[in-house]
Amino acid sequence: MLNITVLVSGSGTNLQALIDAQKSGVIKNGRITCVISSKDGAYALERAKQNNIKVRVISKKSFKTTEEYNGALLSALREEKADLIVLAGFLSIIGDEIIKEYENRIINIHPSLIPSFCGPGFYGLHVHEQALKYGVKVTGATVHFVSSVVDGGAIILQKAVEVKNDDTPEILQRRVMEQAEWVILPWAVALFCDGKIKVKDGKAYIMP
Ligand code: GRF
Repeated sequence: MLNITVLVSGSGTNLQALIDAQKSGVIKNGRITCVISSKDGAYALERAKQNNIKVRVISKKSFKTTEEYNGALLSALREEKADLIVLAGFLSIIGDEIIKEYENRIINIHPSLIPSFCGPGFYGLHVHEQALKYGVKVTGATVHFVSSVVDGGAIILQKAVEVKNDDTPEILQRRVMEQAEWVILPWAVALFCDGKIKVKDGKAYIMP
């Protein structure tokens, strides 16, 4: 049984999808043992408390430097004995020391089909604003391992979502969350906990 630590910053709908997947048995070989938020008051913390999951807040504004923040985060991850770290709507950048120590054990959900609409500055609603501005007819979500390149780690799963003529960024974001993020993130976590994801030459493969 792997210990899963989920890092959050906002409403926690992806965390909720993970909690529901654990309850329904989709995630069998992992257990969410801690939720760490980068922001005080994130509703994701309420979702964790409602499900008796330990919560911690490691708020960026409490630290003078990014190095100190990442040092505190690394200490917390070690204390929680995290086997897998899931970034679920987490808005801080993970430092290289953490990435190195947890190589191919940090999973992120990004609300586009990487390599489109990703990288620095592409988060939350901005991603969907850019997709609509470009005029793409299909977008979606990507689950990938975290590397030192923002949104650049090995892709694990992707799921496409239709863009409709009268979409606003908010409507599109909701559709991507409902039809893609909340489906592939729990699936990827379950595959990881079942030992079914292998990384070779920088690419991730799902084993039968
Ligand atoms: C959403 O923009 C989602 O697309 C992205 O993070 C944001 C908040 O997600 N993954 P959550 O509701 O906090 O999981």
